[in-house]
Amino acid sequence: MNESFFIRRSIRKYTERNVSGELLDKILLAGTRASTTGNMQVYSIIVTRDATVKLKLAPAHFNQPMITSAPVVLTFCADFNRFNKWCRQRNARPGYDNFLSFMTAAIDALLVAQTVCNAAEEEGLGICYLGTTTYNAASIIDTLSLPKGVVPITTVTLGWPAELPVQVDRLPLDGVVHNDVYHDYTSSMIDDIYREKESRDDSAGFVAENKKETLAQVFTDIRYKKADNEYFSEAFLKVLREQGFLDN
Ligand SMILES: Cc1cc2nc3c(=O)[nH]c(=O)nc-3n(C[C@H](O)[C@H](O)[C@H](O)COP(=O)(O)O)c2cc1C
Repeated sequence: MNESFFIRRSIRKYTERNVSGELLDKILLAGTRASTTGNMQVYSIIVTRDATVKLKLAPAHFNQPMITSAPVVLTFCADFNRFNKWCRQRNARPGYDNFLSFMTAAIDALLVAQTVCNAAEEEGLGICYLGTTTYNAASIIDTLSLPKGVVPITTVTLGWPAELPVQVDRLPLDGVVHNDVYHDYTSSMIDDIYREKESRDDSAGFVAENKKETLAQVFTDIRYKKADNEYFSEAFLKVLREQGFLDN
């Protein structure tokens, strides 16, 4: 198996070195070999290299510096617009204005995104996902001129690495894999699975600097708060409605 799977980490700092159009096309082409529902390819990839467009995108990503510093910003979108047009041009009536179809296209978009990331990392490039895409989808739709039927799902910044951060932890394999059927976690299993993560120096640092009692509280009270999740859920549901995937 390719070593790049095991040595990878997210890269958030990039050198000035250009990512050639030829290399990017090769990576994107590899990405499009990903599995796709019914071979429909209900996704689109927006490649942003233009500094002005990046500047416009930045606030939607809470000004995370990678948007303006990376040579390439890729916005992966769930896209039934193209497929619907093809159906209508061929005397076929599309029935894709519903939540299931949104999920289908979102899954397709994520599969192509991750395959592009794998291909990029194999070529020695660094990538970082930006989850802010679904937080501020309406603003991204506006900046990238996405029509009805298209919803941004995730963003990946890409460039030649200018850093080699320490690899972060993962839960042990038996903490995430279930044999045959799901085996629900006892409290002692939870203690075992999270022990390594909780005992790391960086985890202790997050707990101390946020003045929290536990690492879990850093997630629930600081990083991914209920109030934020609810606010951005409403915003995203509104986007799904406006883009034609709900209440039609
Ligand atoms: C869907 C998704 C959204 C993410 N959003 C962000 C983000 O907004 N900013 C960021 O710096 N990293 C983001 N990341 C990167 C994760 O923080 C990173 O993958 C995780 O901490 C594990 O680190 P590693 O990729 O170096 O192994 C995101 C990753 C995923 C999969």
